[in-house]
Amino acid sequence: MTESTPRVVVITGAASGIGYATAELFRDLGDIVYGLDIHPTVPDGVTYVKCNVGNRESVKEAIAKAAEHGRIDVLANVAGIVQFGRFDTITDDEWDRIHAVDLKGPFMVMQEALPHLRATRNANIVNVSSVAGRVPQGYTTCYSAAKGGLTQLTRSLALELAPERIRVNAVCPGTVDTPIVSEVAEKYPDDLDPRVADRLMMMLPGRAISPAELGASIVYLASPAARMITGCVLAHDGGMS
Ligand SMILES: NC(=O)c1ccc[n+]([C@@H]2O[C@H](COP(=O)([O-])OP(=O)(O)OC[C@H]3O[C@@H](n4cnc5c(N)ncnc54)[C@H](O)[C@@H]3O)[C@@H](O)[C@H]2O)c1
Repeated sequence: MTESTPRVVVITGAASGIGYATAELFRDLGDIVYGLDIHPTVPDGVTYVKCNVGNRESVKEAIAKAAEHGRIDVLANVAGIVQFGRFDTITDDEWDRIHAVDLKGPFMVMQEALPHLRATRNANIVNVSSVAGRVPQGYTTCYSAAKGGLTQLTRSLALELAPERIRVNAVCPGTVDTPIVSEVAEKYPDDLDPRVADRLMMMLPGRAISPAELGASIVYLASPAARMITGCVLAHDGGMS
């Protein structure tokens, strides 16, 4: 494979928000992009592959399809769901559902993709964690636990795969303007401490990050320019953390 050969890029969560914008960016670079999602609304020019990242069989089938060129050069784990509410209200089902998608999901996708990442040079993984996976954040304790796990999974796997020259990095977004944010806003309890709402919305530039801005960090970490970057946890949060 030469520098000019298009990369095979696999992105989970490509049907909305950050994953969608990231898929467009890679597509526009001329890469071969597979969008894995439970919903089919991936951008034009991106091959949709049905996948529930919380289910091993589904992940196995989807990765097999996405590896039809015999390799995967870039894997971006973007799919995620959010929990918001007081700690006392988290049910076992909610705990399991969030962890299945936000933590076990990337674990399974990376495990299934690894043989195909090993089949190419300069392979790398970018995991989308969260500001909540870097610093404490109230009212999202279940989500924070899952994203904190993903941050550490990223760093630990980077160490383990370094001898094979497979890079593993994470991006921790602050507030990005996507449907997930309005979902959280709808769950604010009436008596929510205003300092918590301020904390969730606090951005130094005074606005939410756009999905394409966040995607640019993913594209950078996946690029040859970041060849010597692995185990990095990049805070893309406007100074929030
Ligand atoms: N938007 C933010 O402010 C923000 C902040 C920090 C971290 N994040 C993280 O960024 C990632 C993307 O979030 P977003 O804001 O673009 O949200 P989004 O809701 O717009 O997109 C999430 C995508 O993941 C897909 N998805 C959900 N469950 C899935 C499953 N089981 N299998 C496959 N796909 C599934 C959805 O269909 C959707 O296309 C998430 O991991 C989220 O935790 C977002």
